Amino acid sequence: MPTKPQISVAPMEGVTTFPMRLWLQMVAAPEAMTSPFLRVTRVFPEEVLPLDFVPELLQLRGALPYSLVPQYICGEIEPFMRAAALLPDTIAPMIELNCGCPSPNSMGRYAGSGILREPEYFARAVEELCRELGPGRLAIKMRLGIESDSEFPHLLAALGKLPLGRLTVHGRTRTDGYRGLARWERVEEAACSTQVPVHASGDIWGLNSWERLQHIAPHIQGAMVGRGLLRNPWIFTELKESQPVAIEGMSFIQAIFAYVLLQEAFLREPEKLLQRVAKGRLGSLCAVDFSAWERVVVELTSLCFGVPFLLLDSKSVEAMNISPVAFSRLRFLWSYLRSSLPEALASASLSRARNAKDFFQELLALCRGLGDSPVLLSHQEHWDAKFSGLRG
Ligand SMILES: Cc1cc2nc3c(=O)[nH]c(=O)nc-3n(C[C@H](O)[C@H](O)[C@H](O)COP(=O)(O)O)c2cc1C
Repeated sequence: MPTKPQISVAPMEGVTTFPMRLWLQMVAAPEAMTSPFLRVTRVFPEEVLPLDFVPELLQLRGALPYSLVPQYICGEIEPFMRAAALLPDTIAPMIELNCGCPSPNSMGRYAGSGILREPEYFARAVEELCRELGPGRLAIKMRLGIESDSEFPHLLAALGKLPLGRLTVHGRTRTDGYRGLARWERVEEAACSTQVPVHASGDIWGLNSWERLQHIAPHIQGAMVGRGLLRNPWIFTELKESQPVAIEGMSFIQAIFAYVLLQEAFLREPEKLLQRVAKGRLGSLCAVDFSAWERVVVELTSLCFGVPFLLLDSKSVEAMNISPVAFSRLRFLWSYLRSSLPEALASASLSRARNAKDFFQELLALCRGLGDSPVLLSHQEHWDAKFSGLRG
């Protein structure tokens, strides 16, 4: 019996950082995630990994239910292995080499997709890393090539019969960047020509695209959701339950508030945030449940501002003091998320709000305007062309 492909969170540098991963766990509990890349050089990291890289593996062992694959970007064997030694296999059963980042020049010739330029070097490097790490431990995330899909068969051949733990194929070339459609038929080619579990990356936005992917690439063992999780963070529930998610307005507001609070808490008090996760006070699935989000918001407002409160009216909005950095992360999320919202929310001028107080005042008013209608989260492609943040 073929098993259902695993749906996981794609690595996105500056986006799927720890606060986002924790929030996604509360929103929809994806079973697996991959960290954004850590840039590994001959001198970095020395003896410890930065606190914000994979705290789930180092500080919070077992406290959160999802599995996490750490990812490094590095074009050389020796520094990669030195950094890998900081994550023993009991902590990190798999470590991923990023072979996809399109702008590696500042990171060295062979870093990111740069390594795909020379299939012989790629083959040697991957073989050596596989040998050093042991069978099943090295994961690769790669593009189809530098300029053309025709490079892909050579690159695949280079992987030969190596005992990789996972091969994730982002169905675009480096020249494509993040534009154009991902070529899922190439991912299927990989899944059919190797024994390794192959995962697809690119263009999963909701139920329709998920079904199309499974039709075109029936042999994949998993798929990563990248920008789709920004468009609809509840997408993991939608794909699991085969129907769009609807959430009551006030729960939606608390969930969005929790997002910016997590960003704020991790900027201000990372250790305290980790302690609360370790004690089980944060990190349970909240989904669309108001009282679960209520508990999270109370915990986080007390951590950030010393006063626990919920976001229910204009008075409570005045009590928040969100930094410009945390607010910019909320604006970024919103620029994608709006394409999955009902028209009244999507077309509102929230993305022009200058600070968190203005943003939440307006969001409260808009949600009140919806009356008893829940917010239906369902990605609508026709909005994409309109919102500038979605093209990149
Ligand atoms: C802002 C951003 C940052 C990214 N950072 C990483 C990264 O750190 N490591 C990686 O392997 N891929 C990275 N990617 C690529 C994604 O993991 C994914 O392969 C790509 O976005 C295609 O999937 P999508 O069409 O679902 O977004 C990044 C993509 C974006 C948009």
